[in-house]
Amino acid sequence: MNLPSIATAVVQWQATHGRNHLPWQQTRDPYRVWLSEIMLQQTQVGTVLGYYQRFLDAFPDVASLAAASQDEVLALWSGLGYYSRARNLHRCAQAVMQEWGGAFPRTAEELATLPGIGRSTAGAIAAFCFSERVPILDANVRRVLTRVLAFDADLAQARNERVLWDHAQQLCPTEDLAQAMPRYTQGMMDLGASICMPRKPSCLVCPLLSECRAGRAGNPESYPVKTRK
Ligand code: ADE
Repeated sequence: MNLPSIATAVVQWQATHGRNHLPWQQTRDPYRVWLSEIMLQQTQVGTVLGYYQRFLDAFPDVASLAAASQDEVLALWSGLGYYSRARNLHRCAQAVMQEWGGAFPRTAEELATLPGIGRSTAGAIAAFCFSERVPILDANVRRVLTRVLAFDADLAQARNERVLWDHAQQLCPTEDLAQAMPRYTQGMMDLGASICMPRKPSCLVCPLLSECRAGRAGNPESYPVKTRK
């Protein structure tokens, strides 16, 4: 397996076949990227679009969100579900105002200390906004990477999850990070959403087929390995 060629293949594929016109891709404002990533955690793109615009119309920046009442925030969230996301969103805005002087921190490590921002969301914000060389590992990317690597250890064990994070870190682009990290990050998400599906992945049109151990073995659906009980 050739590490730089994996990143390069994802970056090139994203430019021609990925999603490039979503509203949160037209900005590097961490407030806007953060809001989109929280909304997209458990909700599909098509549903998020309307909510995202209404939310930004009401709260155009982190200061206005922090100053709102929780009821106002929950009213705009109404229908998106998973309301702990909205409560954490509000708490996070207040923490950015009180602990970070109104500006989001610029590293994944610091972002992950904020309410509602886990390691993968922190990585997405840092890569999209600041081109930090950090990975994401949401459910879609976990599927892509376990297949590429034929990673068959049980991810319910924290030790194995850490090993997969280490692989994800090593697979990140190594050159031209300013351009490559946002595109690579979006490309991994797009591959998981449109090619490397849970069932019947489209391996024949996948830019990673030549590098993918599961794709070449013809058993991509065997990954990720479910918890052995
Ligand atoms: N899901 C999570 N983050 C996303 C993004 N930036 N674009 C599309 N879908 C996503």
